[in-house]
Amino acid sequence: MPEGVIVVSYIAATILFILALRGLSHPETARMGNLYGIVGMTLAILATVMSERVSAYGLVIAAMVVGGSVGIYVARKVQMTQMPELVAILHSLVGLAAVLIGYANYIDPTAEFEGVAKTIHELEIYLGVLIGAVTFTGSVVAWGKLCGKISGKPVLLPARHWINLGMLIASVLLGKWFLGVESIGVGMIPLILMTIIAFAFGVHMVMAIGGADMPVVVSMLNSYSGWAASATGFMLSNDLLIVTGALVGSSGAILSYIMCRAMNRKFLSVIAGGFGTEGGGPAAAVEGEVQAIEPEEAAELLESARKVIIVPGYGMAVAQAQYVVADIVKTLRAKGVDVRFAIHPVAGRMPGHMNVLLAEAKIPYDIVFEMDEINEEFPETDVAVVIGANDIVNPSAEEDPNSPIAGMPVLEVWKAKTCIVLKRSMATGYAGVDNPLFFRENTRMLFGDAKDSLEKVLNALKQ
Ligand code: TAP
Repeated sequence: MPEGVIVVSYIAATILFILALRGLSHPETARMGNLYGIVGMTLAILATVMSERVSAYGLVIAAMVVGGSVGIYVARKVQMTQMPELVAILHSLVGLAAVLIGYANYIDPTAEFEGVAKTIHELEIYLGVLIGAVTFTGSVVAWGKLCGKISGKPVLLPARHWINLGMLIASVLLGKWFLGVESIGVGMIPLILMTIIAFAFGVHMVMAIGGADMPVVVSMLNSYSGWAASATGFMLSNDLLIVTGALVGSSGAILSYIMCRAMNRKFLSVIAGGFGTEGGGPAAAVEGEVQAIEPEEAAELLESARKVIIVPGYGMAVAQAQYVVADIVKTLRAKGVDVRFAIHPVAGRMPGHMNVLLAEAKIPYDIVFEMDEINEEFPETDVAVVIGANDIVNPSAEEDPNSPIAGMPVLEVWKAKTCIVLKRSMATGYAGVDNPLFFRENTRMLFGDAKDSLEKVLNALKQ
């Protein structure tokens, strides 16, 4: 295919990717955004495969068949609640690809660079391998933490900031060595040493992160994987990969920043790793008496309320209770009850998790509110219904400075006249922190699987 056609295809793909990002920023346009992304990626792959640089068609097609089949299988099999784990492991592949391409580029016998061009080429390789290696091991550990294969508890080495600083300085010095050598054989030594250090840094950085802060880490690794792809684009002199990587890198960085703000964490300390883990003394003990409630009583409370706010959390996703929630909302609204939803920015296990579930159940967007828009309304609310949420409604975030989640903004459901909490047991949530909400005087616990309990509530409402 002529070079000109490829350039035009790359520009078209870039525009489609930008439209895709824009579309994905709102539930109503998300489908269209996805479509733009699919068309853009198809165009990008076709243009790349048809370029003059590709000659081993057999190999490319075989790789695409194997990769595509694995992709289709995994995407069909994955549960909605496992999506963040899948995203994390996919990020790790981007990182690994950057490392491998970096090495392949360095030992490429056909590469002929001289003077400044050689230095730039080697710098691209060094940075690409560095970012790729951190992304690879960081994402593997994040995957392990998200699927419970590695404990969510932060692993804090005594001098961890010094260790990080040491690794940074060592990488800079090795980089200086790498850029100064003539022979590939000698250059391999600093490159391999730096790769080992970067692998260790990725593990160390994510191991030090506490459970509740994982969302920020996942979006940060998303950003890193974008920069790794961009670095790969520089190594391969592929403009589309550079731009696409930069789009992913910068949008991931913006998302991380937004999430840091939502969780009251400092962006810079996230990048350094091990943030949000410095508690003073032990967290306050949670005590009091739990008051359980039956579904029929919950239905009565809801029916007689004027104003109800529903707070969905990870448990709603596990129970797949969104459809029965939608039926309850319809029934209550038909009875004249003002029902709204309050969405915490890190509810569930991925950004926008709850919005996706509610949209799936066709709950109108105009009754779904972000935390900042609705948090002040709990004092005038008759019933707050917490469906499978825990950390995001934990008052100790505001009241106990020693709590691991201290400072994280939460939905103030305890300020409603009555708060009904649906969950199966007294177990803690993702962050592993006890929740005093369950012991408040105005809290009623509706124990059981959220979908089962809500079906009973719906039946009672309909009678
Ligand atoms: P969690 O704090 O994890 O609490 C979920 C609760 O749902 C659990 O306490 C569990 O209690 C209950 N539950 C589970 N299955 C249920 C079922 N079938 N029926 C009823 N209840 C069920 O969730 P959250 O409040 O949504 O907070 C999110 C947490 O995840 C935060 O700590 C956040 O930092 C973290 N996180 C978020 C993200 C993003 S980006 N959203 C990514 C990674 C981590 P029982 O076991 O007693 O039922």
